[in-house]
Amino acid sequence: MNSYIKASNAPMKNIGLIKLYNNDDFSQMKKAGKLVAECLNYIEPFIIDGVTTQYLDKLIYDFALSKNSIPATLNYRGYPASSCISLNNVICHGIPSNKKLKNGDILNIDITLILNGWHGDTSRMFKVGKISRKAEILIDTTYQCLMEAIHLLKPGIHTGDIGALIQEIAEGNRFSVVEDLCGHGIGQIFHDHPNILHFGKKGQGYELKEGMIFTIEPMINAGTKDIRLLSDGWTIVTKDKELSAQFEHTVGITRDGYQIFTDG
Ligand code: MF3
Ligand code: CO
Ligand code: CO
Repeated sequence: MNSYIKASNAPMKNIGLIKLYNNDDFSQMKKAGKLVAECLNYIEPFIIDGVTTQYLDKLIYDFALSKNSIPATLNYRGYPASSCISLNNVICHGIPSNKKLKNGDILNIDITLILNGWHGDTSRMFKVGKISRKAEILIDTTYQCLMEAIHLLKPGIHTGDIGALIQEIAEGNRFSVVEDLCGHGIGQIFHDHPNILHFGKKGQGYELKEGMIFTIEPMINAGTKDIRLLSDGWTIVTKDKELSAQFEHTVGITRDGYQIFTDG
């Protein structure tokens, strides 16, 4: 079966085929990606002891609207905020709240902005004051997982190569890879085919082709890979209450490599 389709021939929904985008689409994605990277840059100096995550979320909302963009998470399947802010043992989808940041916290801020109909999706880890050595190593390793996976990208490799490398780096540092959540195709819709797993085996999965656009967003746990969903229906935490870290970029596959859209 042919798993790929020119995006210009495809309906704007997940049809289980991999959409291949053209140069114009890539420049739209670069604009959306640059904007969301700038949003994280803008928010960074506000991340200090005593500030609430709700306040950060409000700043993100105002930034988005001031740039003629829309936070994709707002009302997405009922999600109530403009960002996901995931603290310490929260793996992802943390809902901004009146909880105050405190010295020693680590947090992931994940933002998706829609600009002219195109989605830029990125997240980074931030630190409040002085953090533990273990937290530092977890954050550095998670960033290494994302960036080394990106450096592999080119037509002809497989999505399994991405997962295998991330798993090798994480487990090599005695951390674990969350398996229940994954990266995703993205473009004019937020979450599209295919899933990009952060674990797996070389050569397995889908072959990468020029024109593909997707996210890589490894979630790496200090303890076991097991997750738990809180009763709010969104917040995903580590089952063993250990720390978790995540970084995310939106990338496109070019003729001989890749383009990172969300690197500012
Ligand atoms: N931004 C997240 C991602 O990387 C998705 C969040 S969906 C939400 O795919 F509804 F939880 F906000
Ligand atoms: Co994503
Ligand atoms: Co995201």
